[in-house]
Amino acid sequence: MDPLRNPFSPGAGAPPPELAGREEILEAARIALHRIRAGRSEKSQMLLGLRGVGKTVLLNKIGEAAEEIGYHVVMLEAPEGQRLAAYLAPALKSTLLRLDRAEKAKESVSHAFGALRGFARAFKVSIGEFSIAMGEPSLADSGNLEIDLPALFLAVGQAAKAADSSVVILVDEVQYLNEADLRALIVAFHALAQKGLPVVMFGAGLPQVAALSGEAKSYAERLFDFPSVGPLGTEATKQAIEQPIRGEGAEISPDALDRIVSVTKGYPYFLQEWGKHTWNVAPRSPVTSGDVVAASESATGALDRSFFRVRFDRLTPREQDYLRAMAALGSGPHRSGAIAEALGRTVESTGPLRSGLIKKGMVWSPAHGETAFTVPLFDEFMRRAIPDWQPPAAADRR
Ligand SMILES: Nc1ncnc2c1ncn2[C@@H]1O[C@H](COP(=O)(O)OP(=O)(O)O)[C@@H](O)[C@H]1O
Ligand SMILES: [Mg+2]
Repeated sequence: MDPLRNPFSPGAGAPPPELAGREEILEAARIALHRIRAGRSEKSQMLLGLRGVGKTVLLNKIGEAAEEIGYHVVMLEAPEGQRLAAYLAPALKSTLLRLDRAEKAKESVSHAFGALRGFARAFKVSIGEFSIAMGEPSLADSGNLEIDLPALFLAVGQAAKAADSSVVILVDEVQYLNEADLRALIVAFHALAQKGLPVVMFGAGLPQVAALSGEAKSYAERLFDFPSVGPLGTEATKQAIEQPIRGEGAEISPDALDRIVSVTKGYPYFLQEWGKHTWNVAPRSPVTSGDVVAASESATGALDRSFFRVRFDRLTPREQDYLRAMAALGSGPHRSGAIAEALGRTVESTGPLRSGLIKKGMVWSPAHGETAFTVPLFDEFMRRAIPDWQPPAAADRR
């Protein structure tokens, strides 16, 4: 059918034509936002799930919902290998500039600017020039993030409160925060919650974040909710495909929908890709299951070239080997010992490789001694990418 009218949208963070099956998560977020806006206590939330399940899309939706009820939205994406202070400070500066417009908040905003200036100096972040009242004491500048970040956030929270406003901090790719940054954030939100200040955080990241924050601070679990973002159920998957097609005045047969459910296993990224390619190959409405089958090759090819490939290309040959050995064992999770064995090596000697892959966000540990892919169906991709794989020869082993 006409590709110009194709409603589907595969792509990282691309808003889907139909956001199916996420009502509960969005409702919980809305309730938290309203409660905090009204000065009531509520936990911050960390959305956790594999790649391509729709976390970024949800975070953006939460940001929109927050904006509608009058929040100042700060959107951050943790870049690999950069410190939180470097991108947080400039973002908070623009928040404070907006809060500064409220006459009654002038004094607390100026105080918060003092904290921001101290913070930026202590962590060597350039945030440009801005004028603050003379004699404003320098704050949040001890150089210890676990002290300065809470002090900075408290000052921002007081400024927001004085302005009758509220601030939501959205942090995507939380797994790339290093432990010290994550720990400081947790301490900061603990302090904010205790004071009932109107600042809340929504994070999104890979499932290993739950363990990371647990290690970061034992009270993380009391402080944060960890809604899990999984594949869509059968009904939601069908809805995500059928509604956009109907929206374009076309139809899709029930067995075509069943087939899409079974090939995509309900993973949002995959269903967008399958929806897109199926639409393009279908000669006419209604879309049939034959069309879904005919689209499989181009849909898989598109995923291999984008969604999977970008991850694969960031791997060293040794890391590729590790993941290929995992893939040889099936979809997983696998015992780390079994993977080492498939590589002809010991668990101890593959430990650093595995840690590196966790840092890169390629694998995670669902339970002690277990390893799983963070990208759904990555085992199938690895087997396609390296079809005739052999464990490395003994001579290459270390
Ligand atoms: N609830 C949903 N229903 C249908 N498609 C969705 C849904 N959530 C996300 N998508 C689609 O899935 C893809 C991946 O979404 P994204 O938010 O980037 O995932 P993540 O951040 O978890 O990797 C996008 O193409 C998006 O349009
Ligand atoms: Mg994302």
